[in-house]
Amino acid sequence: MTTVRVNSTDNVVSFETDALVVGVHSGEDGPRLAPGAEGLDDALNGKLAATLDAIGVKGRSGEVAKVPTFGALAAPLLVVVGLGDAPADGAGYDAEALRRTAGVAVRALAGTARVALALPAADARQVGALALGGLLGAYSFTKYRTDGEQPAPVGELTVLSGAEDAQAAVERAVTVSESVSLVRDLVNTPPSDLWPARFAEIAEQTGSAAGLSVEVLDEKALKEGGYGGIVAVGQGSANPPRLVRLAYSHPEAAKTVAFVGKGITFDSGGLSLKPSASMDWMKSDMGGAGAVFGALVAIAKLGLKVNAVGYLCLAENMPSGTAQRPSDVFTSFAGKTVEVLDTDAEGRLVLIDGIARAAQDSPDVIVDVATLTGAQLVALGWRTSGVMSNDDALREEVVEVAGEQGEGAWGMPLPEELRKGLDSPVADIANLHPERWGGMLTAAIFLREFVPDGVRWAHIDMAGPAFNKGEAHGYTPKGGTGAITRTLVGLAERYAG
Ligand code: BES
Ligand code: MN
Ligand code: ZN
Repeated sequence: MTTVRVNSTDNVVSFETDALVVGVHSGEDGPRLAPGAEGLDDALNGKLAATLDAIGVKGRSGEVAKVPTFGALAAPLLVVVGLGDAPADGAGYDAEALRRTAGVAVRALAGTARVALALPAADARQVGALALGGLLGAYSFTKYRTDGEQPAPVGELTVLSGAEDAQAAVERAVTVSESVSLVRDLVNTPPSDLWPARFAEIAEQTGSAAGLSVEVLDEKALKEGGYGGIVAVGQGSANPPRLVRLAYSHPEAAKTVAFVGKGITFDSGGLSLKPSASMDWMKSDMGGAGAVFGALVAIAKLGLKVNAVGYLCLAENMPSGTAQRPSDVFTSFAGKTVEVLDTDAEGRLVLIDGIARAAQDSPDVIVDVATLTGAQLVALGWRTSGVMSNDDALREEVVEVAGEQGEGAWGMPLPEELRKGLDSPVADIANLHPERWGGMLTAAIFLREFVPDGVRWAHIDMAGPAFNKGEAHGYTPKGGTGAITRTLVGLAERYAG
């Protein structure tokens, strides 16, 4: 595991480390050193610019180059990372640019024991961004590897900064990165090792250790409690469903936030079976519940002045002789009946029970998070979640907080004319719209029907962002990303005032 600390030295030349990381901007006359690397060029006899030019470094963001120092610095290796154009004002460094740059550097230095970041770190905000990006970039998932070919993550990361309150910023980064790593681990774990009851057990252990109170409803309690949606989705699997309630409270809290996560530990589609090619990454279909769990753990560890409850709606969606059938009808926790026309539209079925249950806690806001629709990917791609809400101000708030945390999100509408398509000839509502156009929006419109009047609710569809099928980038690894965990923590921080 990577550890992180701050050092306030202003002498990067004699700082003892295995690799010293500095930033360069793309300037008109070639790359220019960014703040944080003062004194470096003199120590290299003014030859840094020419060297960078010779090896083709431009200073573009995402760029990384390793330069041997031949004894000119205490560090044997100088690592130059691109920061793009310099901000007009030195304090105006974008936190996300710093997170990504630190992530790129730390990923490129896997296998290195000690790494020092001599990057822009003028204030606590920048220090926190560097620490978080570095820690998130150091993530690796090697539990199932026996070949030993994976380099160990960076051992010790030092952020060089004399900023006030740097230590507190680093501590927040550590807490948040631990939660994001926890979520990534859960998403990456094969579904043979993560079924609903196992997830609930982990939530119980890790949640209690963080100071949360944890309640778990098993399949019997779910049936007795009237959680028709979670029961219906879970009934086809040999691994029965669970609903986990995580609660954190602060004596001085003025507000309560409720988060609800889709936790399908594997989505085969059920009897409306998915084609194989869409199934191989459906272990990530619990990413929403993962984000809610990770966020609650972080909120408790940070001791935020807010009350927070989290619901993990856990089920495995499988086809079998006990599975629900297309055209089955169940009664949801809210009391409304639902006709299941497509068993692959299962996420919305578990979420409506979680949302209706969360409303009983009288929260100021309910936010649900789900890998809900392929239509999200069609509309917004891999890295941008869709945000929908019954309250325009709340939708904008969620999008804004996601932006602050560096998580891509975009507001989407709930067009009234789409509601009619969810009418069922036999039940109160159907779970499938006859048209696939606007599928992310019809899913949200379905959810909205189960939010009691007067309750502010937002829905985040992160089907794409939860899992990175492509190459690692910035601080984001391949596989589970831990997406939206940081947005939920950021929201709780806002409601903490
Ligand atoms: N878990 C899937 C959505 C998904 C797709 C997540 C791709 C991540 C990547 C969800 O349960 C699902 O199957 N949705 C269907 C809904 C449809 C049947 C209305 C979909 O999007 O195709
Ligand atoms: Mn599905
Ligand atoms: Zn699903």
